[in-house]
Amino acid sequence: MSVVFESRFSFTSERRKGERRRQSRASASTAIVPREERQTVGAAAVENPRIRCMDVNVYYGSKQAIKNVSLDIGSHEIVAMIGPSGCGKSTFLRCLNRMNDTIDNCRVTGDIFLDGQNINEQSIDVVPLRAKVGMVFQKPNPFPKSIYENIAFGPRIHGLAQDKTDLDEIVATSLQSAGLWNEVKDQLDQPGTSLSGGQQQRLCIARAIAVNPEVILMDEPCSALDPIATAVIENLMIELCAEYSIVIVTHSMQQAARVSHRTAYFHLGDLIEVGATEHVFMRPMHQLTEDYITGRFG
Ligand SMILES: Nc1ncnc2c1ncn2[C@@H]1O[C@H](COP(=O)(O)OP(=O)(O)OP(=O)(O)O)[C@@H](O)[C@H]1O
Ligand SMILES: [Mg+2]
Repeated sequence: MSVVFESRFSFTSERRKGERRRQSRASASTAIVPREERQTVGAAAVENPRIRCMDVNVYYGSKQAIKNVSLDIGSHEIVAMIGPSGCGKSTFLRCLNRMNDTIDNCRVTGDIFLDGQNINEQSIDVVPLRAKVGMVFQKPNPFPKSIYENIAFGPRIHGLAQDKTDLDEIVATSLQSAGLWNEVKDQLDQPGTSLSGGQQQRLCIARAIAVNPEVILMDEPCSALDPIATAVIENLMIELCAEYSIVIVTHSMQQAARVSHRTAYFHLGDLIEVGATEHVFMRPMHQLTEDYITGRFG
């Protein structure tokens, strides 16, 4: 597993680096993959994947939004999905816990294995699946309940607590894992919606953690937060990946560079390139990736 690396991404310096990359590539005669090529370049597969996606297609009616995407999510890794608006990041993310089932006229094909089981089989019960593969959305969405009940709800319906003491323990440890306990321990009966945006997002992360997930999906989890709350969530993600796999969709390349181990670049429904984050940002192999990270596209 690669380590999180410090990236202080700047478009101008990246452009200059892009020029240098082209020159050094020319001299090393390793050609960049041309824009027209749509086969995924890079290492889409990992050893011992937590999730393995094979030939996934998604259609909204007759419109194809995801085209034959194969991608693994490893254990204890953070995978960032980047790409221009409308390229299919959220659509693909929703495949990983069958959330596209909730969208009329959305059809998913292909195989997605979680711990060796194909979650696209009709017989799969999506309720435990969505506990195993939890989701945090762009806009924090606490239930209209107390802080305590926001966390206790899932463990209760999944039968994870024997009694009240057990449930109290799950609530406390989930809030601790989400880095929120010290801020809320004396106001557990207050509404979840009374918290700040950043606290609400951590409450939603605690809610996902409370039902023992294996994977946490995050769709632009910081886009409604200020830089301080964003930094808190990013640090939390880095801590949480010791226990969980995390897939994050982000429009911030700085964020992808700061937190992720691998980065996947999507373009018009195709997975164009995937690889170690530092490679994707510093030495992209596909022209479309380079266009995007240097600010020439999207
Ligand atoms: N519910 C839907 N019904 C029909 N088409 C949809 C639906 N949701 C998404 N699409 C289409 O599928 C494509 C991919 O959309 P998606 O929301 O996955 O993109 P995205 O990469 O997450 O974009 P953004 O960065 O703006 O969030 C787009 O062309 C979009 O218009
Ligand atoms: Mg989206």
